[in-house]
Parts: sequence; structure tokens; C-alpha cells
Amino acid sequence: MRRVQVWTTPFDDQRPGTSGLRKKVKVFQQPHYLENFVQSIFDVLKDYRGGTLVLGGDGRFYNREAAQIILRIAAANGVGKVLVGRGVILSTPAVSCVIRKHRAFGGIVLSASHNPGGPDGDFGIKYNVANGGPAPEAITEKIFARSLEIDAYHIVDAADVDVDTLGSGQLGSMAIEVIDPIADYAALMERLFDFDCIREHLQRGFRLRFDAMHAVNGPYAHAILEEKLGAPAGSVVRGESLEDFGGLHPDPNLVHARSLVDALAQEDGPDFGAATDGDGDRNMILGRGFFVTPSDSLAILAANATRVPGYADGLTGVARSMPTSSAIDRVAESLNIACYETPTGWKFFGNLLDADRITLCGEESFGTSSNHVREKDGLWAVLFWLNLVAATRKPVAALVREHWQQFGRTYYTRHDYEQVDSAAAGDMMSALRGELPKLPGRRYGSLEIVGADEFAYDDPVDGSRSEGQGLRIHLDGGARIVYRLSGTGTEGATLRVYIEAHQMDSSKHDDDPQRALEEQIRAAAELARIAHFTNRTAPTVIT
Ligand code: G1P
Ligand code: ZN
Repeated sequence: MRRVQVWTTPFDDQRPGTSGLRKKVKVFQQPHYLENFVQSIFDVLKDYRGGTLVLGGDGRFYNREAAQIILRIAAANGVGKVLVGRGVILSTPAVSCVIRKHRAFGGIVLSASHNPGGPDGDFGIKYNVANGGPAPEAITEKIFARSLEIDAYHIVDAADVDVDTLGSGQLGSMAIEVIDPIADYAALMERLFDFDCIREHLQRGFRLRFDAMHAVNGPYAHAILEEKLGAPAGSVVRGESLEDFGGLHPDPNLVHARSLVDALAQEDGPDFGAATDGDGDRNMILGRGFFVTPSDSLAILAANATRVPGYADGLTGVARSMPTSSAIDRVAESLNIACYETPTGWKFFGNLLDADRITLCGEESFGTSSNHVREKDGLWAVLFWLNLVAATRKPVAALVREHWQQFGRTYYTRHDYEQVDSAAAGDMMSALRGELPKLPGRRYGSLEIVGADEFAYDDPVDGSRSEGQGLRIHLDGGARIVYRLSGTGTEGATLRVYIEAHQMDSSKHDDDPQRALEEQIRAAAELARIAHFTNRTAPTVIT
């Protein structure tokens, strides 16, 4: 074992948060950089010696090199055993599943989620704790603090470990087991969903297309959708995991998964389409010529949960991030279960799930999951939808339209203003914050402001309070405008404006949400004086 003296502090410009440390590959390739972060994790953890750690990632460039470094440092720090996904592959939800199933003390995920990969792309590393979820802020802050003062890391000198052959090995006194990255996860999915029912539906000629975006879920989708469920070969497209995701941006949305959207728009196209992101935690669901908004998806899964074996006993409660539409609230009300509204970010769901206050949760940003893991889970959402479609024998669009009939339609759109000058964005938010008390009663055309506030969250489980989580303008009739600055952008600031309105009367439903929300969209820009502060007259991305 070697103790390597280091003198640099690696994370001075951007602190690693609960989504881990994400940087350009080139930054991670600097001497001692990754080593410092990994040693900082072990320095902060207690009681891990002799325990089991899970290691895997999304297959992006530098995962393999990073894994070898991590294994050598883990061995030098007294880890008992590491479960490595073969080829260093494990989707983010699969890491969560494996940690829980094998009672590991934690796991390391090598991924930068939906960010582009390759030598000039991004790399990332994230630490997950024993419940399978991302390390809470208290831990990530300690890791960051430790990284600033660390002066050495421990590493064993050894040849590279074979991570491509299933089975057990040894590195110093540490055991290494290379595991099938799919088996545990697939078994969990098989317990939750009615695979026979989906298989029969596929045999009846139902056609699905899953776009793996050359990311981690390719092999999972081949194994589960094609091999286990019998979807014809070719149903999974872009299924080969590539280190640079084929040069694309592995984010499942209307822009980056355009070819899938186009395929579903065709007369003779597939009946069902879905895509997931780089590390397999985000999802997009499409019917024939039909896009299901993530907010609607969450509400519809909740409303129909008892049709699926894993949720046949019903839901204890549900949760959504604050900017996610209120469609789920109406479902919770009708089911007479609690609906929690949390700040943006997956970490806030962890406590609610651990305390069994909720069964399902989701965000408008294409993230949905349940108490089966502690991460969002893309393929899980896809299987849930397939199970519903198969059990009801109804197409996606019909299920959504029936939902709108019963609960009304919640129009929803998100307008992003990317790479805005940070100071300008901050000024805009401050000015609007100052205006909030004066807004109630003001009118914009036919809209009336009935309330305005800044969202804060009191965690009902641990009592912690999170303030400054977005500015909200409540309009008459349940419509809403929300403003917040992104916490994940890398260049300048990203202003996100979330706009929603509810229409109960289905004879008035408009299939173009931008048109249906025209007045609210105009009010949103005027109220915050977006053009004045940012010099932008239109958003860069509309979802
Ligand atoms: C974005 C999404 C948020 C998600 C996060 C991590 O954060 O809006 O819902 O949890 O990415 O995937 P934001 O950039 O808005 O802070
Ligand atoms: Zn992701």
C-alpha cells in the first residue's frame, strides 16, 4: 500500500452536490484529481471497514480507468468487498437496487447523467448511501470540506483487475465480485410488473420502440424488453452502449430524442415509444403521435397503480417536486392519500420513501420512481406504462385522454432561458421577490393573481427546512407560474419558468399547450420583466 502525498485541492470552483461531482473528462484526468475525491469519501465515512461497496456506471468514456483507480483506493482503505457490474456497467437505478439487495454500505456511480460523453465530454462520480439513494447534503458537504484539506490518499499497487469476467477475485485483502449488471434489477422488475400480461400484449401485435440513446439502458432493454418480454429484435434502437453515446446528448426529451418522436408520428409507426438517459434514470413516454408530459405520466401511474402487481395494495402517499404540475394532487385527493410537495431534486423524496409516507414520486424533468429503489428509474416507468397498456388493452393516448376526462387536463410547459448572465438572473429574481407582496389582486387580461410566495419546504421526517426554492405566482382557477434558477447548469445561469393551468371541461381541451397557455406565458414574461433583465425575448428551450 502506498500513501501518495498531494498538494492540490481539486474542487475549488464547483462543490460536488448530491448529484455528485461532474466535470469535463480532462479535469478528472489530472493527476490525483479523482483520487482525492475518492479518498475524501472514505475519510468521511465511518463503519465501512470490512463492508460491501457497489461500483458501476453508465459506460461513458473514462469509466473503466476510474473504476481501476477506485478499486485500488478502496482496497487500501479497508473495504471488505466490492460488487462491480461487469464492464463497470450499472445504471443508476440498478446501483440503487444492488446496494439495497446486497446490504452494501454504499455505492459509487460513475456517470454524468444526460451530459454528453467522450474524451471531450463530461465525467461524473457520485456516492450513494445504504438506502440506495444519493448521499444526503450533510455527507456531500463533509466530502467537499475534506477534499479541501486532504493531503494524501491511500492506494495499493497492483495490476488492473479483470472487470469483464463474472466471478470472484481479490485485490490485496479486498474481495471483488464482478456481477451481472442486469440480473438483480431485472428480477426486481419481474416482481413489480406482470410480465406475462405484457408478453401476451406484444404477441397480439403491439409494437414498441425503445430508444436507449447509445447509453446504459441498451443492454437492460435488450434483456428485459426483447429477451424476457419477447418484443421482436429491433424494438430496442440505439441499443449499443457507446463511450461517447454516439456523439449525441443522451437526454430523453422532444429535442434530443427527435428520431423517436418522428417514428411515433408515422401512420405505420410503433404503438408505443420510450427513451431513457445516459445513466438510465430519466424517461420519456410516447404513444402513437402522442407525448405524455412527465407530470401527467406521474399522475396517471398513480391513478392506475393498483392495476400493477407491485402496487396492487395501493399507495401510502405520493410526492412531486414543487414545479411539477398539480395533476397528481387531484389523483391523491380522489384516492384520499397524502401528496407532498418537495423542492426540486430527487434527494427530497428519500426521507419520505424511507418513512413509508409515499410509494410513488416524480419530477417534471422526466424523472419518476417508487419505493422499489431510491433513485428515479427510467426503465421502471417504461415497464409501468407497458403494464398499464397491456392490462387495459388501451393505447397510451386513450389512457391519457380518459384521465383528462376524469380529472381535467393540466396544461404544462417549461420555458428555459439558458446561459443568461448570472448577475442579471439574480437581479431579476430579487426584483420579483420584492414585488411578491404587491401582486395579489393584480390582473393580466383575463387572469387574476390570487397569491404569490417563495417556496420553502419543511421536511416532515427530519424537520429540516429548505428555503428559497422558487417564486410562485398563483392565478385564479388553479393556474400557476413558477420561477427558479437551475442548480445544475454549468455556464452562466439557467432561468426556468414553469407554467400550468387546469381545464376541467374536456370540450375545451386544446392539443397545443403553448396555445392553451398563451395568456399565462405572456403574463409570466411581463411579470418578471424577463426581457428587461436578461435581454432575451424568447426562451432557448421549450418543453
Ligand atoms: C434539473 C431538474 C431537476 C432534477 C435535476 C437532476 O435540476 O430540473 O428536476 O432533479 O436536474 O437531474 P435544475 O437544473 O432545474 O436545478
Ligand atoms: Zn440521469
